[in-house]
Amino acid sequence: MLDIKITKTTQPKAKPQPGDKLGFGKIFTDHMFIMNYTEGQGWHDPRIEPFQNLSLSPAAMVYHYGQEMFEGLKAYKNGDDVYLFRPDMNAKRTNATNDRLVIPQLPIEDFVQAVSAIVDVDRDWIPTDPGTSLYIRPFIIATDEFLGVAPSKTYLFMVILSPSGAYYESGLAPVGIWIEDEYVRAVRGGIGYAKTGGNYAASLIAQQKAHDAGFSQVLWLDGVERKYIEEVGAMNIFFKIDGKVVTPALSGSILPGITRDSTIQLCKSWGYDVEERKISADELLEAQNNGKLEEVFGTGTAAVISPVGKLRYKDTVMTIGDGTTGELSMKLYDTITGIQTGKLPDTLGWRVKVGE
Ligand code: PLP
Ligand code: COI
Repeated sequence: MLDIKITKTTQPKAKPQPGDKLGFGKIFTDHMFIMNYTEGQGWHDPRIEPFQNLSLSPAAMVYHYGQEMFEGLKAYKNGDDVYLFRPDMNAKRTNATNDRLVIPQLPIEDFVQAVSAIVDVDRDWIPTDPGTSLYIRPFIIATDEFLGVAPSKTYLFMVILSPSGAYYESGLAPVGIWIEDEYVRAVRGGIGYAKTGGNYAASLIAQQKAHDAGFSQVLWLDGVERKYIEEVGAMNIFFKIDGKVVTPALSGSILPGITRDSTIQLCKSWGYDVEERKISADELLEAQNNGKLEEVFGTGTAAVISPVGKLRYKDTVMTIGDGTTGELSMKLYDTITGIQTGKLPDTLGWRVKVGE
């Protein structure tokens, strides 16, 4: 158990009010969690402090070689209860990322305790309008003052909180997705499965290209053959083809999404055949031409379920179904958000109550 020292702000900020447009990741709460790591000492000095700027040497290693990681999860309020969704999965993925980036391991129970503690302190910031939540951003940065390329000997683990609305402005309305055939995001043996800033920096140029062409997100192809579907910029991707649910297998170059895992479990429990396998862009075109591509949707913490209405590949723009939100996408959205917010029973044991 961490012994967390809490210092409350003396200057609380005005909280957003019901009905306010929150956007995503733009507003931050009054407090943050922070804990140091020092080689030989381990993680130490866990504390909750007023949300404030950091003071770091310009030579801090994170600024130069990107040794850092982050996570994303959400808290929801239902009456006096506050829930997290599968936070142990974020803790486990943190350690998988840390291993790849030679960042020290963080005990799973310490991660979950830190997240619960900061959410508890700022629980009055959790928005309750439909589609809103408190987005939680845990992250670790390398802080040694050193310009050599080597793992840092000191780190900061922090958790910040942002009351947020839908990730895409369109909310649950279908998005247009651009299958990128020039740039790649990740290769086998690389860092694709890790949740680290470099993957997102590598994605910006293609995202800009997609935006300029009127599409909201990029769907990546594999880095070797540039044939097989990988994932979207901030989501995993699912296809409903001829009644079956198909999603790319975890090959090492895509993020093992928690919403992906939840979606697979739910679809199986509803009797769908779920295939985790390689799926090529050509197979999608063919399914579309045969009238068998029934639904396409992305899954992610920020977006939850995001139906795809339009998919562009080279010279073809496919309209999925009739371009509106599909039945399975809707059912998944309603079920996952129902469990997250406490409106549906938690039959799979995914909800964690804060403060218990
Ligand atoms: N893929 C990428 C690249 C992401 O950034 C995210 C978002 O976290 C996901 C997939 C979905 O993962 P999760 O469902 O755990 O949020
Ligand atoms: C999330 O869904 O939590 C993400 O990390 C998406 C993010 C890159 C905005």
